[in-house]
Amino acid sequence: MDKIVRNQIKLEFISIPENVGLARITIAALASQLDLTLNDLEEIKVATSEAVSNAIIHGYRNKPAGIVKLIGSLYEDSIVIEVIDEGVGIADIPQAMQPAFTTDPERMGLGFVFMQSFMDEVKVESEINNGTRVILTKKLEGAGIQKAVS
Ligand SMILES: Nc1ncnc2c1ncn2[C@@H]1O[C@H](COP(=O)(O)OP(=O)(O)OP(=O)(O)O)[C@@H](O)[C@H]1O
Ligand SMILES: [Mg+2]
Repeated sequence: MDKIVRNQIKLEFISIPENVGLARITIAALASQLDLTLNDLEEIKVATSEAVSNAIIHGYRNKPAGIVKLIGSLYEDSIVIEVIDEGVGIADIPQAMQPAFTTDPERMGLGFVFMQSFMDEVKVESEINNGTRVILTKKLEGAGIQKAVS
């Protein structure tokens, strides 16, 4: 059975680094409708930034011609953030998610590590030359949604 969406936002932006901050504050504003701790909010912001940075840096190879889609959904028991690009795609997803794995020697290879440690679930769907979708889920404790609907 599908879960009922209590709130949802969709945003599309071009693939320039300035938009990492835009995505971050957009998701923070949405998540603020929940009764989250500041720590949870910070974790959601970092995970979102990492996924959006990856879409821009890796998905679109730092070229501004790409479109990144961001979908934020509040459910009764969770917040779900989807970051979608139509870029180069990931050849080997389990390998890409390994700590310290990177295809860019100037980077740390820690983005997926942060996403996985800060969120309850990280799903990655990707196809070479077709793009990547990262689905980040954080489960809410207790009456998380109460504030959003009152
Ligand atoms: N949206 C994407 N499109 C294409 N490749 C990606 C995408 N996201 C991640 N990758 C691949 O997965 C690898 C690991 O990503 P991860 O975020 O863990 O590390 P990183 O981006 O290389 O370094 P850091 O996040 O520490 O700056 C990347 O180096 C890249 O090869
Ligand atoms: Mg990264």
